[in-house]
Amino acid sequence: MDFEILENRKIAYLDNGATTQKPRQVIDAVERYYENSNANPHRGSYGLSIEATELYENARKKIADFINAKNAEEIIFSKNASESLNLIAYSYGLDNLKENDEIVLSIMEHHSNLVPWQYVAKKTKSNLKYMYINENYEITEDEIKEKITNKTKVVGITHVSNVLGTINKVKEIIKYAHEKGAIVVVDAAQSIPHMKIDVQDLDADFLVFSGHKMLAPLGIGVLYGKKEILDKMNPFLMGGDMIEYVYEQETTFAQLPNKFEAGTQNVGGVVGLNAAIDYIQNIGYEQIEKKEKALISYAKQELSKLDFVKLYLTPNEENHSSVISFNIKGVHPHDVASILDSENVCIRSGNHCAQPLMRFLGIDSTCRASFYFYNTKEDVDMLVNGLKKTYKMFEKYIS
Ligand code: ALA
Repeated sequence: MDFEILENRKIAYLDNGATTQKPRQVIDAVERYYENSNANPHRGSYGLSIEATELYENARKKIADFINAKNAEEIIFSKNASESLNLIAYSYGLDNLKENDEIVLSIMEHHSNLVPWQYVAKKTKSNLKYMYINENYEITEDEIKEKITNKTKVVGITHVSNVLGTINKVKEIIKYAHEKGAIVVVDAAQSIPHMKIDVQDLDADFLVFSGHKMLAPLGIGVLYGKKEILDKMNPFLMGGDMIEYVYEQETTFAQLPNKFEAGTQNVGGVVGLNAAIDYIQNIGYEQIEKKEKALISYAKQELSKLDFVKLYLTPNEENHSSVISFNIKGVHPHDVASILDSENVCIRSGNHCAQPLMRFLGIDSTCRASFYFYNTKEDVDMLVNGLKKTYKMFEKYIS
């Protein structure tokens, strides 16, 4: 068993949308790095530092191949998807948007791909517009065409909703946005753990994700950007390693990717992400998708039998990923999550950092079970039994 925590804690871990567990191979790789290869990369002329640099830069190449970027310079390491999105908003948004330009987001965006754009809109006097979802929790083609116009300069879209599991048609959105002259920022935090991403096929201008949602350690994220766009952008963070020459009053900046990587980087995290990608590639996305499809289909079938549970998901199976949000009518999601916890089932409850979506749905919060390939039918059974128990406890209070 590669995921010892699941064995040791005897839990049904269904909060993979928040963070995944880490396999032994990733933990070992990080430990090996600190035991044998730790030094500050890019800064030393001695063997150990050169080794750390090689590990760091080789991982960059691996990630470029993994998402089919044209070259490794298009991969910038960050702390997480949120930091990557902030980098884009600050370095691209503030410099490229002006009064009356439009930023178009989906109403499903995580706060990380929403709040930074509110800031940009206020600072640049541009306008923020939203693509809303239909009764199937999907964005229709009509909605895309109504909201993205010649005024649109930036489109922000989550590939997979962290609340609804809806898989958005990012390729179509990107194509349409490009026809209108806009650039597109794809939040792939909830998709890349589950499906193959090809940035050239998507033609994404920017694409971000977090390592920790795909088996890697916490604290390492990725920003992909097209070289021709990144080249023209100003740095987001300033400091060591992102400069060329520094004078008393002026500085020239380093080339990509260093221009966007100020300060000592999280090499241990990068090494862990490298091992996580190896792990995913060894299983293969085809296998991951197959396992998750069977699991989600079983979960949906079992949850649908509970007439006291309302599910928030699209009926179109092909547009749905590994997240299931639900509520028990009359019971607060935090209560549901606490009772499930006492049954060793870990789910997330709350607004999932998507308050505008919650408001649009007319609710405050949901319970969310989010799955990964290592989950089992037994995990689903534990969830369902826990929900039955919860309902029994609250039944007499529910009108
Ligand atoms: N963004 C993470 C989630 O959806 C934390 O749970």
